[in-house]
Amino acid sequence: MTDRYAVIGQPISHSKSPTIHNAFAQATHQDLRYEAVEVPAGTLADALQRLHGDGFLGVNITLPHKADAPMLCEMISERAQLAGAVNTLIRSDAGWRGDNTDGEGLIRDLQRLAYAIKDQHVLVLGSGGAVRGMIAPLLAEQPASLTVSNRSPWTPEKLAEQFRTVGTVTPRTHATLKGDRFDLIINATSAGHAGVMPRIPAGVLAKGGACYDLTYGTAHAPFRKWAEAQGATRIADGLGMLVEQAAAAFALWRGVRPETETVLASLRPSQGA
Ligand SMILES: NC(=O)c1ccc[n+]([C@@H]2O[C@H](COP(=O)([O-])OP(=O)(O)OC[C@H]3O[C@@H](n4cnc5c(N)ncnc54)[C@H](OP(=O)(O)O)[C@@H]3O)[C@@H](O)[C@H]2O)c1
Repeated sequence: MTDRYAVIGQPISHSKSPTIHNAFAQATHQDLRYEAVEVPAGTLADALQRLHGDGFLGVNITLPHKADAPMLCEMISERAQLAGAVNTLIRSDAGWRGDNTDGEGLIRDLQRLAYAIKDQHVLVLGSGGAVRGMIAPLLAEQPASLTVSNRSPWTPEKLAEQFRTVGTVTPRTHATLKGDRFDLIINATSAGHAGVMPRIPAGVLAKGGACYDLTYGTAHAPFRKWAEAQGATRIADGLGMLVEQAAAAFALWRGVRPETETVLASLRPSQGA
């Protein structure tokens, strides 16, 4: 019988995960089927029970369920605990084990792009769920400093406190960044989905600095425009991170790590993004 996997969330019809995972399966000669399943907010527990009963071996979790999934897992990985969110479920006899591959996906994509992190002054814009998953993996790369900035003040402070035992995170609001300089700026806000760029003081990108955006497609445009205006030497969107976090989930499920470049290239209609 063909092994079954799914991505669940709402909305889900736009998800690129089925394309990515089915391409991984073909490339690695795995007999599996990966589908998108619409699961409305408030129905996650029922959906997970149903998928388990139907024999699914693994599930990816996306909005709006990432933060609710941990409490429905019989066990979660240390990195998912730190992130406070689960994006990958692995079937166990009794239920689901939860993991979070977002941070690993980011670091692998930055490495693929040959972006430097070690000894760099790194600024992360935003302090939502994605940032919680990124902090420990970024700190593990030994940046010279890691600053997290948000438009509203309390979440960076909370993150800095929460990760105190892992490493130093400097909390800021966007307005208080004036006068600081960063070698790498990572946009992890969802502002691009509203067609806007957070209000960041000019001059925070160091000469020769690089920019990376977690969003891709049309949502990436405002950050790219800003980064170009700041003179960024390198600018990348988050499509590579999406493919890398998927590859990490695939490796957890199937014990084989798929090659990512071919799938990534097939997702880009042109080389513009
Ligand atoms: N490429 C990938 O694989 C990947 C993986 C995960 C996430 N993502 C993307 O990363 C982004 C963040 O995801 P998330 O899960 O962390 O979302 P989230 O928990 O909803 O957090 C959103 C963040 O964006 C900020 N924000 C929203 N609108 C803003 C605006 N107009 N101006 C300034 N800041 C604004 C919020 O600030 P406040 O706290 O002030 O509201 C918050 O810090 C999303 O676009 C998501 O699609 C990509």
